[in-house]
Amino acid sequence: MDNPLERRNPIRQRAFEILEHGRRRDAASRFLDIFLIILILANVAVVIAGSVPEVAKLYGESLRAFDRFCVLVFAIEYGARIWVAPEHLMMRHHGPLNARLRFAATPLMVIDALALLPWLLEVLFPLSTLIPLTRLVRLLKLARYSPALGTIGRVIIAERRALMACVIILGGVLMVAAAIMLAVEGAKQPERLGDMPKAMWWSAAMLAKIGGGETEPVTSIGRIIAAITVILGIFCFALPVAIIGRGFYEEIRRRDFVVTFAMVARVPLFSKLDAPEIAELVDMLKARTVTPRTQIMHKGDRGEAMYFIASGKVDVITDKETIRLSEGDFFGEMALLSRDPRTATVIAKSSTDLLVLDVDDFLRLLDRLPTFKSQIESVAKERRDATPPQQFTRP
Ligand code: CMP
Repeated sequence: MDNPLERRNPIRQRAFEILEHGRRRDAASRFLDIFLIILILANVAVVIAGSVPEVAKLYGESLRAFDRFCVLVFAIEYGARIWVAPEHLMMRHHGPLNARLRFAATPLMVIDALALLPWLLEVLFPLSTLIPLTRLVRLLKLARYSPALGTIGRVIIAERRALMACVIILGGVLMVAAAIMLAVEGAKQPERLGDMPKAMWWSAAMLAKIGGGETEPVTSIGRIIAAITVILGIFCFALPVAIIGRGFYEEIRRRDFVVTFAMVARVPLFSKLDAPEIAELVDMLKARTVTPRTQIMHKGDRGEAMYFIASGKVDVITDKETIRLSEGDFFGEMALLSRDPRTATVIAKSSTDLLVLDVDDFLRLLDRLPTFKSQIESVAKERRDATPPQQFTRP
């Protein structure tokens, strides 16, 4: 395994901190974030303005020049992010080229690459009408600055079964309403409701409450069916909104208690640190609340973070025994130190508030705080002696 401290290049490291490791207290990093956010929004506004013929005629040249400037900045940003990729501690055990290739395949970097695509299209196919559309992809670059977007993604994935049921119900209602309308009014309005696709378009318009356009039912039964379809439409659309809304609320409630200075200072391992170091930790640590019986980690998994217990209790289940850890204790450090799989399964015993330290930040702290390193290594050694390595199972 590479020593993570090797291949250290101070300029690249600083560039990494500014670009990728944005800390709220780092002025340069904050400035860059704000600059890029403003540029992305301005670029999208310019694309929209440029699609209005009168604006394009008056200011076309200036808008194009601004777009070229944005492309240049985005290209430099992309190149710089690729350049600093080997500084990601998770990437350090790959060679520099491998680290960069892997990093280029991460979702945010793929979006950054797509944001440059319109420029390439413009050079290759200058007359394509799709170019303004592809430019709007740049709005997705804002995903980097919105952790809540990830939360929505997780909610949709977690609720996928319920959401799929909603889609099936909506499809069913759409088909049934269309088939009934075709039977009742198909012969009377053949040009609007005469076949299934036409009747389905009418039924979709009614369900979405955009109205059936000019297609009014002409029979009493037709009107009753239209009324029922509109009411069913409200139910069909309210259902997924309620599901996502509830999931979003629960996800936020579960993870977002605020990490405070006092909370970090109370962790015995950090109690000897001075105030600026604790303040930095407050930024690094993420909060997560788990409900009783939640499995926080599983034996054999890859380690990506370690945890400090701010309140509550967990059970560490090794092959030999079950160990109860409580407020002030920590776990999940062994896999980060050794890069071996997790040595035990950890389950919340009660509702537990955890402070989560990502592997990147963990390795950074080891490097910066020798006392933290020696304390954590000695606890890990004690635990390793109690949980011999031959019991590791690779996933
Ligand atoms: P890790 O191997 O990353 O994931 C499981 C965690 O359980 C492990 O780190 C330790 O933090 C913890 N653990 C393993 N063995 C023991 C033990 N004998 N006593 C207390 N904690 C342990």
